[in-house]
Amino acid sequence: MSNVYVLDHPLIQHKLTYIRKKETGTKDFRELVDEVATLMAFEITRDLPVEEVDIQTPVVDDAKAKVLSGKKVGLVPILRAGLGMVDGMVNMIPAAKIGHVGLYRDPETLKPVEYYVKMPSDISERELIVLDPMLATGGSAIEAIHSLKKRGAKQIRLMCLVAAPEGVKLMQEAHPDVDIYLAALDEKLDEKGYIVPGLGDAGDRLYGTK
Ligand code: PRP
Ligand code: URA
Repeated sequence: MSNVYVLDHPLIQHKLTYIRKKETGTKDFRELVDEVATLMAFEITRDLPVEEVDIQTPVVDDAKAKVLSGKKVGLVPILRAGLGMVDGMVNMIPAAKIGHVGLYRDPETLKPVEYYVKMPSDISERELIVLDPMLATGGSAIEAIHSLKKRGAKQIRLMCLVAAPEGVKLMQEAHPDVDIYLAALDEKLDEKGYIVPGLGDAGDRLYGTK
């Protein structure tokens, strides 16, 4: 079963409160999502392997230092709301390649409909981090990750701001190998498939639509 990590850092929790508030407008919502993504990037990359290298500093010729080793990172935002988390992650992982999965949730059936996929050619060699602010029924994330695995992805993590227990459970059943990183695990879904208390429609709030 995949692990679920709630990143209970005071700065993340503080900013998430303002993201949730209904009076927070598009500009602030966008900036806060960006900032939280940067803070989450710091936590989600905590276990990336490092190796020792020899370097020269202005003071000595033989210092030991550490650099990232092993697999390189790939970011995969689920369009459209996942795009709001990309810049915040890239602040911390500037060399990451970025793939895109376009999915929308049919408002009647709540089932995801895929409309676009473009991945780096070497996804099987990358540690992929799938980005989506919301894990509600889980349908979108499950489908996006199926799509990545079909294209050869082997190492995948999922990073969301807010999740419902229903979505987490289905994700764990569908993809037990994918660890899930959240800023918050909320109470439940409502009858329209919205997360409660949640933050509303993440895409609409990020882009000022509706
Ligand atoms: C939202 C959200 C997730 C999905 C979560 O996207 O960004 O992708 O819903 O719901 P699920 O877990 O029940 O699948 P939406 O379909 O509204 O599209 P958008 O990002 O284009 O606004
Ligand atoms: N998608 C959203 O944007 N918000 C929810 O609460 C559920 C799905």
